[in-house]
Amino acid sequence: MKSLSQEWLAELNLSPLWRQRGVADEVVAPASLPATQNNHLQGVHNRGYLPHLKAEGGIYFLTFRLADSLPQSALDELERSAPETRSKQIETYLDAGHGECCLRKPEIAQIVIQALKQFEGERYVLHDWVVMPNHVHLVIEPRGAHALSDILHSLKFYTATEANRSLDRHGAFWQHESYDRLIRGQEEFDRCVQYVRQNPVRANLAEAPEQYAFGCAGYVAGRDAGATTGEVVAPASLPALTPDQIAQLDWPQLKQAAATCTACALHAQRTQAVFGVGDEQADWLFVGEAPGAEEDQQGEPFVGQAGKLLDNMLASIELKRGEKAYIANVVKCRPPDNRNPDAAEVLACAPYLDRQIALMQPKLIVALGKVAAVRLLGKDATIASLRGQVLDYHGTPLIITYHPAYLLRSLTDKARAWEDLCFARQTFRGLMNQANATI
Ligand code: URA
Repeated sequence: MKSLSQEWLAELNLSPLWRQRGVADEVVAPASLPATQNNHLQGVHNRGYLPHLKAEGGIYFLTFRLADSLPQSALDELERSAPETRSKQIETYLDAGHGECCLRKPEIAQIVIQALKQFEGERYVLHDWVVMPNHVHLVIEPRGAHALSDILHSLKFYTATEANRSLDRHGAFWQHESYDRLIRGQEEFDRCVQYVRQNPVRANLAEAPEQYAFGCAGYVAGRDAGATTGEVVAPASLPALTPDQIAQLDWPQLKQAAATCTACALHAQRTQAVFGVGDEQADWLFVGEAPGAEEDQQGEPFVGQAGKLLDNMLASIELKRGEKAYIANVVKCRPPDNRNPDAAEVLACAPYLDRQIALMQPKLIVALGKVAAVRLLGKDATIASLRGQVLDYHGTPLIITYHPAYLLRSLTDKARAWEDLCFARQTFRGLMNQANATI
């Protein structure tokens, strides 16, 4: 016998995202439309994107719900009802606000909205979205290599962790299953956008979509969706994850966690967290100290004067930013007035760098300057006493050299830094030879 949820899926023409179970191919291949039909879409969006129904990943109508949004009594009743009325009933149940409806709380809705906005334009295009009290609808177009299942997994994991923490509760936050439907044409696209847009109106939460602050139509960037209308307040800052939680994150989750981290006071003044740049599978990892003013503005490590020198240093050993090398800092947010990060800031940020290294598994780490050296070695010492040796960071070879900003001021040590780079290259080649010999 088919399970109830399977029946719903069939009836609603929805396919489950079985990503949690590792079966990705449930998401059907996108239908192609004639180019002329794509042109018709230009009127339905206003954020500078062309919705490409023919895009690699297609456009999806996606729904995910709070774990308690459909209680057992509702499931039992739905099981008894006629299949043709079920989808309507599901909507009615959801819109009646079953369960705790914690997405009604501005701070919880804000967690979801901030998470959605974090990678908008980069990993996906959001054609429309709404955060309802107990569920979320998206009209979403994954971009490039970003699979819908990965996007959703990351979104649900992150928001569940943050929301549970904010609510001081444990357990399932979202229902395990999510529902997606590939949009196959212009009419369907328009219908989905209208459906999402009008959801707050149907649920009597607003008189018009623009009055509902937790949805695309009424959302204004930079303000908290504190009420469906009226009062506008700054977005709430999110509590920090614990080191153990950070140690479980994948790359997208880690970036997102760093972007919203409030574990130390530096978050209050940052333009953005500066996570790192380069090949995430790189053999070489270069670790600096903390972003400066330009890095804070641009969101990339070592883009100022010291960065130019670092690029030259990399070039001298046939490496390039973004190729075979990754550049990160001990601390991800800018300390004011170019001061060194203090011990508390280094400690608060340590789980992020540790997790980057664990995910990357570089063959060799080069610490640039004393802050990075002390952080990675876990003991205080001068650069002069640490140079020229292969040290160890949890089993990964570690070489210490001077910080490029210091080298800009101290020409005499440039020659020593050059020696250090040659030593690093020679060490790396030795490691490669060793690895080849043991294969
Ligand atoms: N100095 C650092 O240590 N890191 C940067 O990203 C820039 C300057």
